[in-house]
Amino acid sequence: MGSRILSTGRAVPRTCVSNRDLEMRLDTSHEWICSRTGITQRYVLRSGESLVEIAAEASRQALQRAGLRAKDLDAIVAGTVSSEYAFPSFACQLQRALGASLIPALDVAAACAGFVYALAMADGMMRSGDWKRVLVVGADALSTMVNWRDRSTAVLFGDGAGAVVMVSEPGPKGVLKSVLRSAGELWELLSVRATGPRCAFDDEAVRDAEDAIRMRGPELFKIAVKSVEEVTREVASGAGVDLSEISLIVPHQANLRIINAVMERLGLDSSKVFTNIDRYGNTSAASVPIALDEAIEANRIHDNDIVLLNACGGGLTWGANIIRW
Ligand code: UT7
Repeated sequence: MGSRILSTGRAVPRTCVSNRDLEMRLDTSHEWICSRTGITQRYVLRSGESLVEIAAEASRQALQRAGLRAKDLDAIVAGTVSSEYAFPSFACQLQRALGASLIPALDVAAACAGFVYALAMADGMMRSGDWKRVLVVGADALSTMVNWRDRSTAVLFGDGAGAVVMVSEPGPKGVLKSVLRSAGELWELLSVRATGPRCAFDDEAVRDAEDAIRMRGPELFKIAVKSVEEVTREVASGAGVDLSEISLIVPHQANLRIINAVMERLGLDSSKVFTNIDRYGNTSAASVPIALDEAIEANRIHDNDIVLLNACGGGLTWGANIIRW
């Protein structure tokens, strides 16, 4: 018995911040942000807005497209590092918002690789356990964790959520293999303290340097390219799939230059990758499921296609899932 993605959904906050908007408050430029990252705009939570509500909107969309109700779910797995509470978990808050039954609900904390990790966890449980219908969500709001006066990080992140409904199913379709990796010794390349206050884009207060997201960008860039290339090759060969058989790669959207460098190293044409970083920025664990939902909407994924998801983020954590659609 395997697991298949039956439907997807996505949602973002209503506030869109363009690079031009950022030029008004930071010593930065549209040209710098665009050429170094590929980002032109991002959606951010305002003070008082709830990421759980955004995730619930994405989840309701996925459930509706699956023809299921929240009460039909056997479990909720949320890839996130943005819960407002240490407990209850984000998944428990989501379970309440959706009105799901007394099912297991849990978070997977793997930063930007959160959705790839969560999908692998759900797939494993569906193969070995009695979960048949699972909601897997990637949701993050890293815009509330940056120091909005630090141009080196403030321009990078956007907020949002993506959701998929997975069903267990016999046969050749579904998740073929996942590979997950971590390197805790590299944690200082990208980190944020759990104790920092939420400081939204429109808040007067800003996080101080100690509490805000800290990133050693250029070092992380090199490791991300190498590790994502390696894990992509590994998951494909582990599933007995040649790279040339991949129909579409849906990567984590951290930097367009990272995505292009990985594609070049894999020897794959740019037509085989889906990107939307220009409109969303880096939405952390939400980026892969948001991109997946848009790829489906854009008719880039068809029956029986081989689709590969990959991501790298704080931890460090990285991983990939390969799926027969
Ligand atoms: O999602 C999790 C995984 N994330 C990643 O893997 C991110 C990996 N890293 C990156 O994507 C890139 O390193 C960044 C986008 C973060 C930075 O791009 P970069 O090309 O590596 O720039 P840099 O940090 O080397 O900075 C180059 C210059 C510096 O100025 P000097 O020292 O050369 O005079 C920075 O001060 O650009 C300056 N700079 C900026 N200038 C205008 C940094 N941020 C900005 C900015 N606007 N926002």
